[in-house]
Amino acid sequence: MSRIIRPPAIEELPALSALCFRSKAVWGYDSDFMEACRGELSIDPSDLRYTSIAVAEQDGGLAGVAQIKVTGSDADLLKLFVEPAVLRSGIGRALFAWAADLATSQGADRLLIEADPDAAPFYRRMGARDVGLAPSGSIPGRTLPKLVKDLCSIS
Ligand SMILES: CC(C)(COP(=O)(O)OP(=O)(O)OC[C@H]1O[C@@H](n2cnc3c(N)ncnc32)[C@H](O)[C@@H]1OP(=O)(O)O)[C@@H](O)C(=O)NCCC(=O)NCCS
Repeated sequence: MSRIIRPPAIEELPALSALCFRSKAVWGYDSDFMEACRGELSIDPSDLRYTSIAVAEQDGGLAGVAQIKVTGSDADLLKLFVEPAVLRSGIGRALFAWAADLATSQGADRLLIEADPDAAPFYRRMGARDVGLAPSGSIPGRTLPKLVKDLCSIS
C-alpha cells in the first residue's frame, strides 16, 4: 500500500468535490439534505488561491481531501473528507496531521473545526476539545459541534 499527501491538480477538483459528497453521505442523510449541502461540499478553482488544500492519494487513487484557511492566529478546517471505501484506515489522521502542521507553520495557534456530529468523536480522538455549537452553513436552524485543536508553536 502506498500513500502520499500532496496538493491537488486543478483538473482533479470535480472528482474531489464528488468525493466530498460521497463521503458526507456515509452518515445516512437524505437526498434533500445532501443537495442543500452540495455547495459547501464543492471545491472551486478559486479555493486553490485563497485556501490550502491537500489530497491523500492511496495506491494511485484519490482517497481523501482536506482544506484549511489560516487567518492570523486562527486556522479553520474547511473540509476533511475520506473516500467511503477506505474509512478507518488512517487517512483522516494523516490529513488532519497535514492540516495541523501547515496551520502551525503559517503561524496559527489553534485549528477551529465545525464538525459533522458523527465526525466529532474522530476530532476528539485527534486531541480537539469541544467549545460549543456553531450554526450550519448549509441548513438553517441546524447547529454543529464546534471544536478547537490547540497547536504547538514552532518558534
Ligand atoms: C471523520 C473522518 C474524516 C475520519 O477519517 P478516517 O480516515 O476514517 O479516520 P482514521 O482511520 O484516520 O481514524 C483515526 C482515529 O480516529 C478514530 N475514528 C475515526 N472515525 C471515528 C468516528 N466516526 N468515531 C469515533 N472514532 C473515530 C479511529 O478509530 C482512529 O482511532 P485510533 O487512533 O484508536 O486508531 C471520516 O469518517 C469521514 O470522512 N467521514 C465522512 C465525512 C465527514 O463527516 N467529514 C468530517 C466533516 S466535519
